[in-house]
Amino acid sequence: MKSMKATRKISLLAGFSLLAGGLWAQNFCISTPGTSLVINAPTGGELKYLYYGNKLSETDLQQIEAVSNCNHTAYPVYGMNCPGEVALAVTHADGNLSTQMEVASVSTETEKQATLTTVRLKDKVYPFYIDVCYKAYQDVDMIETWTEISHQEKKAVRLTQFASAYLPVRRGNVWLSHLSGSWANEGQLTQEPLEPGMIVIKNKDGVRNSHTAHAEVMFSLDGSPRENTGRVIGAALCYTGNYKLRIDTDDSEYHQFYAGINEENSSYTLPGKETFRTPSVALTYSNEGLSGASRNFHKWGRNYKLAHGNTVRDILLNSWEGVYFDINQEGMDQMMGDIASMGGELFVMDDGWFGDKYPRKDDSSSLGDWVTDSRKLSEGIGGLIKDAQKHGIKFGIWIEPEMANTTSELYEKHPEWILKAPQRDPVLGRGDTQVVLDLANPEVQDFVFKVVDDLMTQHPEIAYIKWDANMAIMNHGSNYLTKDNQSHMYIDYHKGFEKICQRIRSKYPDLVIQACASGGGRANYGYLPYFDEFWVSDNTDALQRIYMQWGTSYFFPAIAMASHISAAPNHQTFRTVPLKFRIDVAMSGRLGMEIQPKNMTDEEKDLCRKAIADYKKIRPVVQLGDIYRLVSPYDRLGVASLMYTSPEKDKAVFYWWKTEHFVNQHLPRVTLAGLDPDKKYRISELNRIDNQPLAFEGKTFSGAFLMENGLEIPYTHRVDYHKQNDYASRVLYLEEVK
Ligand code: DGJ
Repeated sequence: MKSMKATRKISLLAGFSLLAGGLWAQNFCISTPGTSLVINAPTGGELKYLYYGNKLSETDLQQIEAVSNCNHTAYPVYGMNCPGEVALAVTHADGNLSTQMEVASVSTETEKQATLTTVRLKDKVYPFYIDVCYKAYQDVDMIETWTEISHQEKKAVRLTQFASAYLPVRRGNVWLSHLSGSWANEGQLTQEPLEPGMIVIKNKDGVRNSHTAHAEVMFSLDGSPRENTGRVIGAALCYTGNYKLRIDTDDSEYHQFYAGINEENSSYTLPGKETFRTPSVALTYSNEGLSGASRNFHKWGRNYKLAHGNTVRDILLNSWEGVYFDINQEGMDQMMGDIASMGGELFVMDDGWFGDKYPRKDDSSSLGDWVTDSRKLSEGIGGLIKDAQKHGIKFGIWIEPEMANTTSELYEKHPEWILKAPQRDPVLGRGDTQVVLDLANPEVQDFVFKVVDDLMTQHPEIAYIKWDANMAIMNHGSNYLTKDNQSHMYIDYHKGFEKICQRIRSKYPDLVIQACASGGGRANYGYLPYFDEFWVSDNTDALQRIYMQWGTSYFFPAIAMASHISAAPNHQTFRTVPLKFRIDVAMSGRLGMEIQPKNMTDEEKDLCRKAIADYKKIRPVVQLGDIYRLVSPYDRLGVASLMYTSPEKDKAVFYWWKTEHFVNQHLPRVTLAGLDPDKKYRISELNRIDNQPLAFEGKTFSGAFLMENGLEIPYTHRVDYHKQNDYASRVLYLEEVK
């Protein structure tokens, strides 16, 4: 967050001037291929928002002020217009609580694939500055916006509110889509019309930030949300820590959207020499409905945010639900052999492999003691890597390096490294012994970096790390921060976290790292520059996953969403879902397995082997393609359906899952989307279990027909009587026929 300010030259390159109300106004158009964001930034005047939407023509751009009734400042500050909500509130060095900003300069810089427009605001009286930054991507409709706050006042300034961005959204029949949930039920979609009052979407966990709510939203501007038509604005706050999104609907013509770090218990004392950079908010606009906005997020995510966003992922087996803490070399070898024989490419050893004085038998000890438990693994990690090589697959390992247990050698040695309120016993987390390390402390940062560095130095063959985090910050108190700066704890934890991640990424750029946090606690674009993917949820039940993955796909591409085939009955819901359905759901994300293969029958292994082989064929379309959501499970029509198309529209994968089962029910016929109407596509079913092929198996249809008429999918599977059950699902592969 700290950055040195480079002197920037005033430039009007991105702007145009026009006469407005007798004054020379300066309007700036920040553009992406299909969108324009127009601001008014007259030197010495107020920075104002004018327009955000479809790309404007030159003619319309010249007249934009005549049709805009938005008199909103683009970054509202507190003190000279007290009654409203604001983005920023500060206490100046002399105690003045008011701030009044005017435009000092505007500059533009061209970066690789993006143009950065910076509006420098200066307080009318104080040497206090805000740079409002807009980074517009040239190959995807995404604008990132954030602020950089600095000053030269005589003493430190206290920031009490510091949102990253503000956006007015014109009232009308505007609907909000957002995600909430809890552990094992992440990513639940809520869609609601915006009514007067304020909606606050927030996180205060301290460590993980996407279990109970998500820091991303979509606004459907044309009434109740539609997937493939209508105007949509999407926003994603890219931050790893506590956040607050506010949508205030007061008596004005605009809903007022604010997004940024959650300032509660986090006021920040800013010395003159430091610049406070707020995390960016990524804004997108699409007139192709919610799925259109999702495609923008996915493309931008893959190209600019996720680690290795354009490299398809390995198909893996993770040991957790297969053996839990019961790790030993023989067992790992057996699992590696099994996943290799099914065509998998990677094995990941989960929790339970470490601890010397305190072996990790369950979740009540050993975090912090990152040495192999030689009682379980006599040949150490080296032995496991040899086994993996023998089976021709890669090896990965689980760690939870931000944490310790009070039963650990680390805690015995460094009790001062944990977050804890002075004079008080710590509130403990998982296993009644877990504590969070103080990442504000550079020594702790070194320690956490070293956990990864030691593993990778000793075993450079490690290809994948599952980085877990299973506790909230329950105790306010840092031994490292001064007593005056205790309110920096949440922010400095995440500054420390990012520093560690940056060190790891600069030394180990090729390592694949999963962000796991008690399941889906770290699904946020703030994490993804350092992580390749996230674990969507600890709940692997295929039926519930349809709902969670549907919501999560609003903002994150399939390549980032780890989705594993697990056992039946499911370990979280105890529901018995047939393997075919479990496979068909897992195959719509980044496919993996989370199961003990030795408990599977040969027939089940065969089905998985075929699915893995087919997934390798469709993997580029699923992981790198464009999503079109077709029928929402949240509409409760008895079916859910989505598809991915390749960018060239020559291939597509269609998913259909029945979500309810009644005799003689009537399900809607699903029309496809995203195809080229003029192309012809041959259809083949993947993961077929039916005795008879589908009526349209191997047949060719035009894209136009498939998108206007759709296909009749049988409601049940034609299988032998003893194999019948209440689930049905289909995966269809479409290939262009020339
Ligand atoms: C929580 C994760 O979400 C699980 O996948 C597993 O890794 C456990 N932690 C291990 O303790």
